[in-house]
Amino acid sequence: MQNTVTLDGVTLHLAHPDELPVTWVGRDDLLLQVLAAWLMVDPSDLPLHPRLVGKPGVGKTTLAWAAAQRLGREVYLFQATMDTRPEDLIVSPVVGEGGRIQYVASPLVTAMLRGGVCVLDEGNRMSEKAWASLAPLLDARRYVESIVAGVKVKAHPDFRFCATMNDDASTFDLPEYIHSRLMPQIVLDFPEPAEEEAILRQNVPFAEAEVIAWTVEFLQRAHSREEKYTVRDGVNVVRYAIKLSAPEGGVRLPRAEALAQAVRQILGEEALVGLP
Ligand SMILES: Nc1ncnc2c1ncn2[C@@H]1O[C@H](COP(=O)(O)OP(=O)(O)OP(=O)(O)O)[C@@H](O)[C@H]1O
Ligand SMILES: [Mg+2]
Repeated sequence: MQNTVTLDGVTLHLAHPDELPVTWVGRDDLLLQVLAAWLMVDPSDLPLHPRLVGKPGVGKTTLAWAAAQRLGREVYLFQATMDTRPEDLIVSPVVGEGGRIQYVASPLVTAMLRGGVCVLDEGNRMSEKAWASLAPLLDARRYVESIVAGVKVKAHPDFRFCATMNDDASTFDLPEYIHSRLMPQIVLDFPEPAEEEAILRQNVPFAEAEVIAWTVEFLQRAHSREEKYTVRDGVNVVRYAIKLSAPEGGVRLPRAEALAQAVRQILGEEALVGLP
């Protein structure tokens, strides 16, 4: 792929697309909602910028990826943090060969230039100041301005964007003008038993059916008690329990004990009350 682009005489070095083999299981309606938001039904139409919301580990990043992959375009992941600055999101200066300044396009700007998809992951961790730099991108203007490089970058018509957000406590409260640009909201909930089973099977295909069934039962009980444990925790419990009882390992616990120990070590003592 071409790894530089020149805009108004300024050369931008592009990021590389991300490869993440994910398969989305269950809730096809959610996948279709993301794809619908990205659709353009008329040349004068504009794509929307969905916000995927839910507890940590419910599958937000997986859904964003799966939808982006379904479009068949390059996918760029931007991991937002509390320290993300506007230039990290847009263009950063770095010292290149011969001490000259080079301008490096972020994954987001690379996606804008190449007509790819940008998934801005854990957007709730990012400050209002960082989000403010994306305001013109997320409305009809579809551009960002790089103060450091002195260029305005217009999004390719094929560019698509979505953000994932945790609804846990470690979040910035985004101002209304940002919120209203991150629409529609797509809420991920705890899965139904059959979906949860399919997700576990997809993620740990070598696990025996009884181990999966036990873990689904454990997770469903936890969901009914409004515990925070998610399918990610379930995947980790299954993996660790299998390792603890594996013939090739040294521990070789019986399955039931291995599962209980995995729950204790992964989720803590307090999770043991919900064992099937
Ligand atoms: N519907 C699904 N299909 C396939 N895998 C899933 C699904 N939902 C969750 N998973 C699996 O569960 C794990 C957690 O999912 P993911 O990382 O997408 O969650 P998240 O909501 O982005 O979490 P966080 O808020 O911590 O970033 C992953 O290993 C993923 O493979
Ligand atoms: Mg995530």
